[in-house]
Amino acid sequence: MKKLHINLQDHSYDIIIKDNLIDELAQYVKEVYKNKKIYVITDSNVAPLYLTRVMKALENDYEVKSVVLPAGEESKSFAVYQEACEKLIDLNIRRNELLLALGGGVIGDLTGFIAATIYRGVPYIGVPTSLLAQMDSSIGGKTGIDFYNRKNIIGAFKQPLRVLIDPRTCDTLARDEFVNGMGELIKHGAIGNPKLLTLVENGVSKMTEEIVVESLKVKQAVVEIDEFDQKERMFLNFGHTFGHAIELKYGWKHGQAVANGMLMALKFGIDMGETNPKCYDVIYNILKNCGFPIEEYNYKDYLPDMAYDKKNLAGVIRFIFIKDFGTPELYEIEETKIKDLM
Ligand code: GLY
Repeated sequence: MKKLHINLQDHSYDIIIKDNLIDELAQYVKEVYKNKKIYVITDSNVAPLYLTRVMKALENDYEVKSVVLPAGEESKSFAVYQEACEKLIDLNIRRNELLLALGGGVIGDLTGFIAATIYRGVPYIGVPTSLLAQMDSSIGGKTGIDFYNRKNIIGAFKQPLRVLIDPRTCDTLARDEFVNGMGELIKHGAIGNPKLLTLVENGVSKMTEEIVVESLKVKQAVVEIDEFDQKERMFLNFGHTFGHAIELKYGWKHGQAVANGMLMALKFGIDMGETNPKCYDVIYNILKNCGFPIEEYNYKDYLPDMAYDKKNLAGVIRFIFIKDFGTPELYEIEETKIKDLM
């Protein structure tokens, strides 16, 4: 078992990482939640895999109800938010009762947003079951839904009471979904934990508690110093500006787009004299060994896309480079200078 404590001003919490934790949920829920009812929110893909185990693990100690929503990104919508809230109100949820988000990033973001808004806030616990959600969206309290063709455009910061991670849930992921989650993990290694890069350099066939904890230490550190995404938390966007552009253009999965986006950001950083050139080959080889499909895009073709990034301020493009492994930097380029770089 591994434990990380996220130390925040008003709502610190623990992340517990333990193999087969799904079967021991009651013990870890009881330490932070004392009421009788729990509402499990999950989706139609995850329910057949884990809902029965989760109910069994909790029902000796709690009265447990479940809400099963359609699987897929389309569920991060006002329509499904409304459907879930209606079901919870029909189930007679009270403001001091717990939501438990069982699933990947969509379920985590949506449940967190419901938890932030229903009765102006109810407690929630995250039980992320995809590697991508374990590595990223379940930690740090960003919740929300997509709207008007924009991802995560409506949302709130709402920290969970706890995050409970069972690395064994990664065993049921399709290989490309597993690789997808590895993208954010390798990014954590690049921006904040060179030890993690050595743990994964020859590829990973099975997720371990140690790899998860080393990866989450990086997210923990930036969320603790910049909970509301004003500066250091933006380091987590390494590889994301180019990644979002190719994700939109070619339909890459998020983590795979971020992986290729990292290679583009490394090349850009090397050309700008900001990045140690050896970083490119190290990350390239790790991505190859971890099974990533790699396309060598020319970053210059995607520089205009940087203008639309949400990190930017008026007239200034903000970009994340790494100087070397573990030393990210927020770099500002005047919008008018972008053409000279192309
Ligand atoms: N996914 C980036 C963040 O949590 O800030």
